[in-house]
Amino acid sequence: MTRKPLIAGNWKMNGSLGESRQLVETLRHGVSAGASATMLLCPPYVYLPAVRDWLQGSPIALGAQDIADKPGTGAYTGEVSGQMLRDVGCTYVIVGHSERRALYGETDAVVAAKFKAAQAAGLLPILCVGETLEQREAGETRKVVERQVAAVVDSAGVAAFAKAIVAYEPVWAIGTGRTATPEQAQEVHAFIRGMVAARDATIAAGLSILYGGSVKGANTRSLLAMADIDGGLVGGASLAAAEFLEIFRAAA
Ligand code: 13P
Repeated sequence: MTRKPLIAGNWKMNGSLGESRQLVETLRHGVSAGASATMLLCPPYVYLPAVRDWLQGSPIALGAQDIADKPGTGAYTGEVSGQMLRDVGCTYVIVGHSERRALYGETDAVVAAKFKAAQAAGLLPILCVGETLEQREAGETRKVVERQVAAVVDSAGVAAFAKAIVAYEPVWAIGTGRTATPEQAQEVHAFIRGMVAARDATIAAGLSILYGGSVKGANTRSLLAMADIDGGLVGGASLAAAEFLEIFRAAA
């Protein structure tokens, strides 16, 4: 089973409209239609329609950083539905990012609901999981990741993972410059794939598992050389066109 590498840029709450335009213009010239990897951009909600327009004719994909946990429409002030994200050109959406979990109180149940709302709208959810430094040092990495993945598998069913992506993002590696070693990441990636394989081996073999946490041009190749690392979810380095293109080229 070959899994096409995916390099996703999560801009978080960064950049102005003008800076975003410059970034997208540079990136689109650096990514050709025949590339052997997929580039995905996840700008803030309000820039999605503009980024979609700037990407016209480009193979670069568009995604959102979050989604409402409710399907359909309704009285949910401030929320954005999956169908709305589809309307503005998204094909992917990040769910359960550690910042959403830690800063906005998203529980495993909320993350599972977002995952299902994304799929109900025809979006590919990128389910983020990962342990804190405290949890790693306490030897709880597998326990935490298992709980986070199981919450979604048990709620959505393993078949849902045929149309989903998982991102392992150890919290201690996010924005710290302290990247997990390829071996540390591979161990958790293999664990996640094994969890899914225990339920469905074919789905596990096709599942893309991204690594996130201080991915840079200089460490992409060694991370992606590992058997179960299928791409990167990139924060800070996705805001600098040259660096993000270096990451992409290392994957493609
Ligand atoms: P950094 O690449 O800035 O460490 O962020 C990773 C991340 O959280 C991507 O979702």
